Amino acid sequence: MIQKPRGTMDILPKDVATWQYIEKKAREVAAKFGFSEIRFPTFESTELFQRGVGDSTDVVQKEMYTFTDREGRGLTLRPEGTASVARTLIENGMCSDTMPLKLYYLINCFRYEKPQAGRSREFFQFGVELFGASDAAADAEIIAVAHSLIKELGIKNTTLHINSIGCPECRPAYRNALKEYFASNTEQLCDTCKSRLETNPLRILDCKSPICSEIAKNAPKTIEHLCPECKQHMDELEGYLKEMGIEYEIDPHIVRGLDYYTRTVYEFIATDIGAQSTILGGGRYDGLIKDLGGPSLAGIGFAAGITRLILAMEKSGVNIQDENRPLLYIASMGKAAAKFAMGVVAKLRNEGVYAETDLVGRSLKAQMKYADKKKAKYTLIIGDSELENNKAQIKNMENSSQVEISLDDFASIKEILSAE
Ligand code: HAM
Repeated sequence: MIQKPRGTMDILPKDVATWQYIEKKAREVAAKFGFSEIRFPTFESTELFQRGVGDSTDVVQKEMYTFTDREGRGLTLRPEGTASVARTLIENGMCSDTMPLKLYYLINCFRYEKPQAGRSREFFQFGVELFGASDAAADAEIIAVAHSLIKELGIKNTTLHINSIGCPECRPAYRNALKEYFASNTEQLCDTCKSRLETNPLRILDCKSPICSEIAKNAPKTIEHLCPECKQHMDELEGYLKEMGIEYEIDPHIVRGLDYYTRTVYEFIATDIGAQSTILGGGRYDGLIKDLGGPSLAGIGFAAGITRLILAMEKSGVNIQDENRPLLYIASMGKAAAKFAMGVVAKLRNEGVYAETDLVGRSLKAQMKYADKKKAKYTLIIGDSELENNKAQIKNMENSSQVEISLDDFASIKEILSAE
């Protein structure tokens, strides 16, 4: 038996209602804040992620699905969306559009990670990106989008953790301070963090290994090493968040795993969904567009993992029901009635009615069983006498009431079905 690749998922009809609900809410929240949808390729030139996400990151070093196509081009299945959106802007001349530019996406992403609850190799993100605004008001606005999404989905038990990781001006000195601190504990660090000491010491701060996180507790904090401009940016952001009534905590261990971040970084962490608790993460990336060959253009955004949102919704007791559409099932007896029923459902569907009829030659009893399984709210039986008189009874399956209708009076049928 051929099985799905490890770390991928089948989303079955019984679960799709929840996915559609989240996607609908995400689109509504995005629209409320003035964001437009953008779509971009599932695979890109590998170089985009090497330069955009960063060569020293786990994503680029260990997790990308990279391949060469038949012409020998180096391509990679997107591990995230931000670098692609930045490329799209540059390539399509959108960097000179009216700013701020607000974009959102619903995408699948691919990372070769060890699968566990809330972590898969193909996963799904809702992401938003805001360009052309370097003021802390934009940071607050983006965080407000995230806050609103989580609220709209009914997710409780989350905390917003924010931090500033400084800018190219102040980060080198901070990196040195960190290196110095961790160098005195090198022996105890895990192997990954030993190599991070040279390549990216900030990442040691969010290592999940108990020894590393214990050592990291007393490490110098980014927030205490910010240059005056970064400090002011952070102070202003805090001011905006307080004004907007968004609760947060400053968390010096939020550093994020991607290289493009500058200044503000943040995560919404669910307290009750297990180890993969970051349901949403993002930050500012003022150098990304320039690094990819575009003009100097500020950017900030976030992405939320859909499966983690679902886990958090389940823990919060949110229960999504399939959309309650009043389905009409037309059962038939005999060949002539079955043919006639095909015509009736075709015409009803043209009128916008959800209608089904038998396609497999079942007995009347079996057809009614099928209608019950499909939760048809209304049924209608066509037999010889109905064909002859062109009249039939529509039965409401919830209260067993019946109404006689003419089989060509589609307006009346529609009216009955749309009455609550
Ligand atoms: P990220 O933190 O790598 O950031 O991913 C964002 C979210 O995607 C995570 O918080 C998590 O909910 C979900 N996620 C990540 N990896 C997996 C996985 N293997 N399985 C399931 N869910 C996962 C980014 O991707 C940035 N592009 C976010 C961003 C946008 N920053 C600025 N703009």
